[in-house]
Amino acid sequence: MEQKAKTRPSPDRRPSAPLGDKLGAMIAPKTAMTEGRVLQGRQAPPATLVIFGAGGDLTKRLVVPALYHLVRAGKLPDEFAVIGVDHNDRTTEQWHQSLTKMMQAFTQAAGIDAQAWSWLTRRMRYMRGDFTQPETFRDLKRLLAERREQNNTANVLFYLAVADRFFGPVIEQLGYAGLTQQSEEAWRRVIVEKPFGHDLASAEALNAQILKVLSEDQVYRIDHFLGKETVQNILVLRFANGIFEPLWNRDHVDHVQITAAETVGVEGRGRFYDRTGALRDMVPNHLFQLLAMIGMEPPVSFDADAVRSKKTELFEAVHSVSPENAVRGQYGDGIVRGQKVPAYRHEPDVAPDSGIETYVALKLSIDNWRWAGVPFYLRTGKCLPARTTEIAVQFRRAPYALFRNTPVGRLPANILTLRIQPDEGLSVSFSAKRPGSEIEIDGVAMDFAYRDYFEPLATVGYEPLIYDCLIGDATLFQRADTVEAAWRAVEGLIDCWVRDPAKDFPNYAAGSPGPEAADRLLARDGRAWVAIKASHPRTAIRP
Ligand code: BG6
Repeated sequence: MEQKAKTRPSPDRRPSAPLGDKLGAMIAPKTAMTEGRVLQGRQAPPATLVIFGAGGDLTKRLVVPALYHLVRAGKLPDEFAVIGVDHNDRTTEQWHQSLTKMMQAFTQAAGIDAQAWSWLTRRMRYMRGDFTQPETFRDLKRLLAERREQNNTANVLFYLAVADRFFGPVIEQLGYAGLTQQSEEAWRRVIVEKPFGHDLASAEALNAQILKVLSEDQVYRIDHFLGKETVQNILVLRFANGIFEPLWNRDHVDHVQITAAETVGVEGRGRFYDRTGALRDMVPNHLFQLLAMIGMEPPVSFDADAVRSKKTELFEAVHSVSPENAVRGQYGDGIVRGQKVPAYRHEPDVAPDSGIETYVALKLSIDNWRWAGVPFYLRTGKCLPARTTEIAVQFRRAPYALFRNTPVGRLPANILTLRIQPDEGLSVSFSAKRPGSEIEIDGVAMDFAYRDYFEPLATVGYEPLIYDCLIGDATLFQRADTVEAAWRAVEGLIDCWVRDPAKDFPNYAAGSPGPEAADRLLARDGRAWVAIKASHPRTAIRP
């Protein structure tokens, strides 16, 4: 992981545009592109990026905008080229045109930086090809040889921005064509997108298929949550400060809550979602990344394997989740942020009697010296009242004895809240004496907001991931054993839920905080969820 010195607040401490701005909402409702500070650091080495799925949404919404930002940041070398492969018949010019339209929508009023865009498009070439046919890979080999002549480099990064059923076949074909062969002078790497498997067995099978062709250090399994600055910052928070780590264990932490709440429904992805559900879509991948950052032991360095081994160890210590410790929900119709929303079962491409969950809440137990006895509650869902991803670390309450003869009825717990998105920052709640002659206390908070200290990065979140692949840093990517360990923790639950479909769906109204059973999951332990709300108070909070 690149370490950058970013500790100085911007001199005028001027609040800048929120990172969560949604641009081009019609085309890319969830993609935020922000104008702001560009990435710093050294330039990537010469390379050709081959994008399979060049005409797809991921390429348009994330990969190409990320490349554009990398160009603006001066991170791509002159000897850089992009070959886009897809099955549609189109020319390079037509491909450029469709990307330019998308970029105009993204950048909106700010406009495209014409110089950077033309720098990039000059290096982008389209190639028609069927991902399953050997001719495609022969053609690609020829094209790569030409590029090699021009760019004097044989480094190639293959980006699989394709449906997951093509991951294995494309890698096999790359292998047959001899395109994955590395040499002293040239590396060959492959980025594999999410979803990585549908369950443990399919993830293991995919790993086995991939690792027949590639060595582990050539495979970059993406989880885009790791591209989020605030997720990466968790490690800095924990390990670059002296005050947190001594408290970061079962002696001081009562429990941890990890929430990824979304206001959107399935956004036209009914076909994918209705065979996936919230558990597979979010838990063993995105929520487990957050879990790893909070729960892992300190690695000895930022070296990829040092970090990834600690994550894997943590996942291996997670008890397999049983149905008693899990709640599933599906939204019925309701109102989200003032808009009427139809029930999940009425979404396009969703079965009218679908048993797929759009909400999941889990209680995880981690069986190691640091966390034994400290529950980690995870929840995620669609059509909830606010979009917020955050982690609340609740510390044990102080003993009450001193306050017995005062009006203080109960001491509130201290909560460290890490706000991952969209209101990036963190806060610590604590008790303070209310001014006056009596001992009365109030809950107050110390708050840090990224926007008060740092200019936002110009980012769609994929820049650090693509850049790290180019420089060969796999810290932010999933290793085979890490992916499998995460699936293993939820495998039993997936099986149970498939065997025993929910009988009470829909069981929460769109716009509500989720099914009541999720509240009971915590209530039975004498705890309660932190409220799902859009923005956080910057001033005193009541206990
Ligand atoms: C994707 C899931 O991987 O992550 C989506 O498939 C989900 O269903 C999305 O909405 C959430 O990511 P973000 O970055 O918008 O929080």
